[in-house]
Amino acid sequence: MQNFVYVFIATTLLLFRLSSALREGQTCVLGRNCDSGLHCETCMADGNVRPRCTRIKPINPTSQVKRLPFNHYSWLTTHNSFAKLGVKSATGSLILAPENQQDSITSQLDNGVRGLMLDMYDFMNDIWLCHSFGGKCYNYTAFQPAINVLKEVQAFLEANPTEIVTIIIEDYVSSPKGLTKVFDAAGLRKYWFPVSRMPKNGGDWPTVDDMIQKNQRLVVFTSKSSKEASEGIAYEWRYLVENQYGNGGMIAGSCPNRAESAAMSTTSRSLILVNFFPDSPDFTKACKHNSAPLISMVNTCYQAAGKRWPNFIAVDFYKRSDGGGAPAAVDLANGHLVCGCGNIFQCKENMTFGACELPEPSATPASRPAHESSYAYTNRRFIQLWWLLGAALVTILYSL
Ligand SMILES: *[C@@H]1O[C@H](CO)[C@@H](O)[C@H](O)[C@H]1NC(C)=O
Ligand SMILES: *[C@@H]1O[C@H](CO)[C@@H](O)[C@H](O)[C@H]1NC(C)=O
Repeated sequence: MQNFVYVFIATTLLLFRLSSALREGQTCVLGRNCDSGLHCETCMADGNVRPRCTRIKPINPTSQVKRLPFNHYSWLTTHNSFAKLGVKSATGSLILAPENQQDSITSQLDNGVRGLMLDMYDFMNDIWLCHSFGGKCYNYTAFQPAINVLKEVQAFLEANPTEIVTIIIEDYVSSPKGLTKVFDAAGLRKYWFPVSRMPKNGGDWPTVDDMIQKNQRLVVFTSKSSKEASEGIAYEWRYLVENQYGNGGMIAGSCPNRAESAAMSTTSRSLILVNFFPDSPDFTKACKHNSAPLISMVNTCYQAAGKRWPNFIAVDFYKRSDGGGAPAAVDLANGHLVCGCGNIFQCKENMTFGACELPEPSATPASRPAHESSYAYTNRRFIQLWWLLGAALVTILYSL
């Protein structure tokens, strides 16, 4: 009898495991019911109450095509990457400041985030990730020492020798060599992409292949212009144009530059960053913002930037969406940038730019968009499995 129970438990676990691989768009109960790269959520803000498997991970563009310059790719970027929902300040205080993301830096990197926006301050004789009131960090707005998060980036670069990460610092640090010290202490110096190799007049960046081969896989920008000369940290707006952040950047059909940036159409800057998040992070509405309105803004900014697709797409709560979300926006931008097609999955190494084939009827799951035909199949399999499970249960009840 006992053996039978073990077999039953094992069978149940196995069936559950088999029935758990749901594709994008399918109804789910828990995140683990969905394929990898997906999680289970609703989008009430869009009136969508059915929990569906929803994408959280873009296709890694360099897994399709590696040889292009860095500025021919688009990267999923998290706004205030460090401001994680529900954490306590490392000072022990409660946090009374906006929170913009749901998961840790490590988890973001694992999900394909490659741009991190970090606000850094002098605080308690160290550099902290913080929000401010009047440019000053307080216990109740201080998240944690920057070194913790930089060490997470270090561990990721170490473990993933072909990945490139960009850190964009909102810089309030005025202690002498404050940033240099904290990056060195985190072991990130050896990955540093030197300012001297950044194109100054809108030219192409080195290729990702070259950056990987030279191990120059960390690109860092600061908002303080003086630090380029004093510490070798690139002044952000010398290299990229960026649209208005906050509510002012969410008006459909308009993509003005933020005050510090040159006009979006300035071609002497090779990189383009699109911000799309409200003044105050809004967990409930983020799923709506990160979907159709984001794609629409990416297209608007493409026009404003002189028909150039964004290299960084920065959002709050990057995992939330009503459909493909921020990962789909990044796949779209990458498709156009890398091979002149509407989606990065259409790009192949050495193909002719713009020679887009229709997607083959793919049997590959996970990172590929779901095809309608998979629904019927998976649902039928699901029903069969539950029928089997039910039959097993009845058998056991009779044998008791
Ligand atoms: C801020 O946190 C530090 C470290 O926990 C503590 O020593 C200090 O007293 C706190 N300051 C205030 C104003 O609460
Ligand atoms: C692409 O072209 C390069 C240069 O001609 C060549 O070295 C490489 O093997 C090609 N890669 C593929 C996948 O065809």
